[in-house]
Amino acid sequence: MCNNYYLNCKYMHQSPIQLIRYLFWIMKVSIITYLIIFGLLPIIFHYSYTIQKKILFLNFVQWPLNVDFSKPELVGMKGTRNFYLQTDQQVKIGLWQILPQSLLNDSIITTDDDYETMLKNAKRPIFLYMHGNSGNRASNHRLELYKLFQSLDYHVVCFDYRGYGDSEEAELSEIGVVSDSKYVLEWLLKIVNGTAPVFVWGHSLGTGVSVHVLALLATEKVQPAGLFLESPFNNIADELSEHPLSQIFKHLPWFHWVIVEPFYDNYLRFESDKHIEKIQCPIMILHAEDDNIVPFALGEKLFKAAINYHGNDTNRVQMTRIDATHGFGHKYICRYKNLPNIIKSFVHEVRKNQTD
Ligand SMILES: *[C@@H]1O[C@H](CO)[C@@H](O)[C@H](O)[C@H]1NC(C)=O
Ligand SMILES: *[C@@H]1O[C@H](CO)[C@@H](O)[C@H](O)[C@H]1NC(C)=O
Ligand SMILES: *[C@@H]1O[C@H](CO)[C@@H](O)[C@H](O)[C@H]1NC(C)=O
Repeated sequence: MCNNYYLNCKYMHQSPIQLIRYLFWIMKVSIITYLIIFGLLPIIFHYSYTIQKKILFLNFVQWPLNVDFSKPELVGMKGTRNFYLQTDQQVKIGLWQILPQSLLNDSIITTDDDYETMLKNAKRPIFLYMHGNSGNRASNHRLELYKLFQSLDYHVVCFDYRGYGDSEEAELSEIGVVSDSKYVLEWLLKIVNGTAPVFVWGHSLGTGVSVHVLALLATEKVQPAGLFLESPFNNIADELSEHPLSQIFKHLPWFHWVIVEPFYDNYLRFESDKHIEKIQCPIMILHAEDDNIVPFALGEKLFKAAINYHGNDTNRVQMTRIDATHGFGHKYICRYKNLPNIIKSFVHEVRKNQTD
């Protein structure tokens, strides 16, 4: 009867004592594994600021690999220049400037100065993109969105925060990435000098960055023309509690102490639901119902917080809910057929209100 299934054959000939020993062994291994996963690892996590930062920023996840940032055309970006800025905190930041469709065939735009002149004399809106965690400014879903902006005849500027892409390594923290982004936005606003409207677009973790930047600038009475928040969360504490990966730890009585509190205590907070109070420009929130990285409910919470401060007034803040049936999830709202119209009418309204 004993066929060639190794395990069956083995245990058929075991005595009951051996079997009990074997079961004890299994129990012991299970208990130790449980203690390691739900006890030891969380405690290490609680005390390691380095691990918390790595999990939050995921900047070590470099995808695509080995991008030559100086040759954007190799990843399919036309009319794009690569350049660097040295921030006020002496961090070297890598950026791309992408020309609008109507300037693509202009063969005289080649040098850095030519490109910068295009921003100085911009007639079309300019979008500054702040990306989410992991990857870099050449990641695929980001390229898709730049190409959409380009096809809508908008200028685009995108960049990598410190420690991402080919930007310089520097102390990675909320205030670090926020100050890099604030520097880039101020640099852009200064160059454009009011000749064209500048919009900020944040995605995922980049929504936390952009809301924080705009709140800081609001205290200096500086704002862009408008802010788009794609797949945003209300704050990191809620994002950590609702993230799918957290769900296996949520049954632990010490979940909050282990996972949520250390981020807060270490100033990794991204409290957009507080910062949004200060923002003075119109805001458009975009969120897909089937987002399984930042649940839709968190975008809605941010929207409710904004309404609470600014009133339910579409000139100040509005939210577009994207049906789960489209399957866009966390990263691919850029494929939404209505997105160009949503962006264009938002831009149009902002410009109309500015000239009124
Ligand atoms: C640019 O040139 C290409 C090829 O010559 C042409 O197909 C395209 O329509 C031109 N685009 C613009 C915006 O002029
Ligand atoms: C910026 O715009 C202001 C007002 O339109 C103008 O007075 C100023 O000269 C401009 N600055 C530069 C550097 O072009
Ligand atoms: C905001 O106003 C719109 C239209 O007036 C309404 O449909 C919506 O339910 C309101 N939202 C909240 C959260 O009050």
